[in-house]
Amino acid sequence: MSDVLLFNGRFTTTDERVLGVEDRGFQFGDAVYEVFKFIGKRPAFLLEHYRRMEQGLREIEIRCPWSETEFASAMGELLQRTSFDDGIVYIQVSRGEAERAHFWPENVEPTALAYSRRFRFPDEARKDRGIRVITTEDCRWHRCHVKSVNLLGNALAKKQAQRAGADEAILLAEGFVREGASSNFFAVKNGAVITHPLDEHILPGVVRDRVIGLALRSKVRVDERPLREAELFDLDEAFITSTTQGVMPVTEIDGRVIRNGRRGGVTEKLQLAFDELERA
Ligand code: PDD
Repeated sequence: MSDVLLFNGRFTTTDERVLGVEDRGFQFGDAVYEVFKFIGKRPAFLLEHYRRMEQGLREIEIRCPWSETEFASAMGELLQRTSFDDGIVYIQVSRGEAERAHFWPENVEPTALAYSRRFRFPDEARKDRGIRVITTEDCRWHRCHVKSVNLLGNALAKKQAQRAGADEAILLAEGFVREGASSNFFAVKNGAVITHPLDEHILPGVVRDRVIGLALRSKVRVDERPLREAELFDLDEAFITSTTQGVMPVTEIDGRVIRNGRRGGVTEKLQLAFDELERA
């Protein structure tokens, strides 16, 4: 599949082999990435994605190759050159290319790339039906708030879910629920929404943040605290959030159906509100 690619400031397509074998993103996972959604060629929450990327790069001492305005105009041009209206943009910034050594040279230039891609977002039937999840141990590194490309732990968990006939893996550690392998996790109990607080154990999801705002605005209580593993099986509702899935109901956890296996009322309300916000 050929997609429009912006590579170090130059437009090409993904048919061109652009990365060197000694790019540190490839050899060390020494890179940060982002994924944003666009609808009718308009990016959703672009600034929030930029800020998270910029913050992540700062934390691992990689120079951000774009200012906020440069980023907005580069992404605008990428979407202009894209032949379809709806999809996602994948962005990756690595420390750059240098002779392989754990300690990096100070003067290395970051490698920056972005490409647009078609994406099949969940349709109404899917959003109503929801997904099944499994739980598994969180075996990731200790700085999960950085959206680094080190996704081996996430990928292994996700594959385990797929093999079990589920759509997502919920990561557990020390008896607590952290987040999904590629999403944030929310529980609903007695009308309140519970989700893991922002710390190094989870990614600060762009959708998570918006959904919390929407919940508060509609007078739904939000409890940002780690959910105990045992609480997973005594929930009224559950859902995950992510850029590609939006607000997605969870109807089954490890083969156990949540309540009647249907999307819950709080979930539906937040799902509708989020879909509207995303399109605004
Ligand atoms: N994943 N947690 C993890 C581990 C994630 O990988 C993601 C997103 C999220 C949700 O973040 P956001 O709401 O900003 O999309 C939480 C993206 C979509 C991915 O890797 O493709």
